[in-house]
Amino acid sequence: MEVLIRPDAEAAARLVARIIADELRANPHLVLGLATGRTMERVYRLLVEMHVRDGLDFSLCRTFNLDEYVGLEPDHPQSYRHYMNERLFKHVNIDLRNTHLPNGMAPDLDAECAAYEALIERAGGIDLQLLGIGRAGHIGFNEPLSALMSRTRVKALSPATIEQNAPLFPDPAQMPRRAITMGVGTILEARRCVLLATGGEKADIIARAVEGPITSMISATALQLHRRCVVVVDEAAAARLEGADYYRWIFENEPEWEPYRDL
Ligand code: F6R
Repeated sequence: MEVLIRPDAEAAARLVARIIADELRANPHLVLGLATGRTMERVYRLLVEMHVRDGLDFSLCRTFNLDEYVGLEPDHPQSYRHYMNERLFKHVNIDLRNTHLPNGMAPDLDAECAAYEALIERAGGIDLQLLGIGRAGHIGFNEPLSALMSRTRVKALSPATIEQNAPLFPDPAQMPRRAITMGVGTILEARRCVLLATGGEKADIIARAVEGPITSMISATALQLHRRCVVVVDEAAAARLEGADYYRWIFENEPEWEPYRDL
């Protein structure tokens, strides 16, 4: 795992957007794993800008989102399908048929989860998985005690997640209590993972996720097992990291990060 610390949330999002854009340019057939949430809004805005300004090409790319609420129609304003359409897909030249989210309205949710796993496998697996982190440490909706080898399945949302996301609903009581989410094991199979976290309210959980012991109570700690995982944070989210100086040194000195230092 590597931790890249940027001065502010905008610079952190720029770095993540550049990593995605570079992967997409290197492999136009990229299979991209996507996340939703407030943190990602900046990344999608920057990717749209890169498409408009520099012609970043999404035409051959395929996407798989991490999760979707159970019981929301795709056109529901709080569904993750709606979020992705509005923030990214509508504004770039992606073929909507190549964009995938679990269907939270499926009559047989277990069959839907198995079909989603099969679809990822048929696509050849995920090349680059974008991740956020919940305040209690989930990736996707892998709530506390999610098995580290779990696959796509229905999860009951934790009180912390409900508290985090309910304000996004006009009537907070209408937030679904369950979601379909890729499992921790599904996420760990992605060839590369990039987690983005910004803001002081993520400082505690980032320190525990990156430097704490691996535990199913905090599914993000499983990323410590991943061969190629980058955690991008702003200074505020980095505030509790004991090794921050070392991580800064790596970013300033390792040749891999040279092209990203001026962002
Ligand atoms: C959403 C997802 C979640 C969010 C996390 C952070 O698809 O997978 O794990 O990334 O809850 O959300 P924000 O960015 O709103 O703090």
